[in-house]
Amino acid sequence: MYKIAVIPGDGTGPEVVREGLKVLEAAGKKFNFKYETKIFDFGGERYLKTGKTLEEKDIEELRKYSAIFLGAIGHPQVKPGILETGVLLKLRFSLDQYINLRPVKLYNSLYCPLKDKKPEDIDFVVVRENSEGLYKGMGEFKDKGTKDEVAIQISYNTRKGVERCIRYAFEYTRKRDKRKKLTLCGKTNVLTYAWDLWERTFYEVAKEYPDITTDYAHVDATTMWFVKNPEWFDVIVTDNMFGDIITDLGAMIQGGMGIAAGGNINPQGVSMFEPIGGSAPKYTGQNVINPLAAICAAGMMLEALGELKAAKAIEDAVIRIVNTKLKSLAAGKMGYSTSEIGDLIVKSL
Ligand code: IPM
Ligand code: MN
Repeated sequence: MYKIAVIPGDGTGPEVVREGLKVLEAAGKKFNFKYETKIFDFGGERYLKTGKTLEEKDIEELRKYSAIFLGAIGHPQVKPGILETGVLLKLRFSLDQYINLRPVKLYNSLYCPLKDKKPEDIDFVVVRENSEGLYKGMGEFKDKGTKDEVAIQISYNTRKGVERCIRYAFEYTRKRDKRKKLTLCGKTNVLTYAWDLWERTFYEVAKEYPDITTDYAHVDATTMWFVKNPEWFDVIVTDNMFGDIITDLGAMIQGGMGIAAGGNINPQGVSMFEPIGGSAPKYTGQNVINPLAAICAAGMMLEALGELKAAKAIEDAVIRIVNTKLKSLAAGKMGYSTSEIGDLIVKSL
């Protein structure tokens, strides 16, 4: 019996989560697994009402769950940064979800903005470090507000933090068993402290994985190759900030935010799965947002829980519907409403 904590969150989050849960229910029936859900109201509305983001007791409660299914966090009436750090990053950090796993997979060349790229060309996974780097929140102002002001933002990289991420990426590449190639994406030519540590650790750990081909690409060149030669990539490992940036580009080449899902993984603890597109407030309540990213996130959650058949069936259903029904993956242009797409996936399952 799995215990799933559900955080629908803000904007279109609740709409896409509803479809994700619909698919989860159908998968549970078909593949015979049992689960219970509890809804948590963390997010913008709650913050506006109570002034609270996430408290220690909330984190303690969430620790009791098998996984967390998250819609989106971000509210137009809340100053940027409050919910991001107070809810999303707080969850990632407190639950030590040190991996942000972001598959980039094209299901139909129709949805790819790149010319002549086919599904077999765009099929890679970004392993983003999710607990350190520039996201650590370390830094300071000097002489704030004066003309001599200095703002310092530190990228904090520990050997342990870097190594556990790199090790996860090697293991993942092996388990994925596709091209068995792991690319370190960094900036060794300029960021000579952080990327020296990353590079040394990468090649040290690589010695334990002779079956994996290693490669290195600077982050700027990586964005170029995402567009020019995405077929070069199998698994990419990178730090928190670079991973944030390159996975938005990754989402676009796989067909947009409507299909991009991610997992915040603590391999020994509670992981959290989310569509990576954000709360898209302008589409709220219109039943036009694409729920496939949330449905794919639910699939990733099942995979992490060990329900491999169900996870595979959900992905297959998504591929089938994307290839036979949808006109577009973009909100409002799909040819179906949010809830109709959920129904199509359930039926296909
Ligand atoms: C993401 C988002 C978050 C991040 C924001 C909302 C804090 O962009 O999940 O990629 O920067 O990690
Ligand atoms: Mn991002």
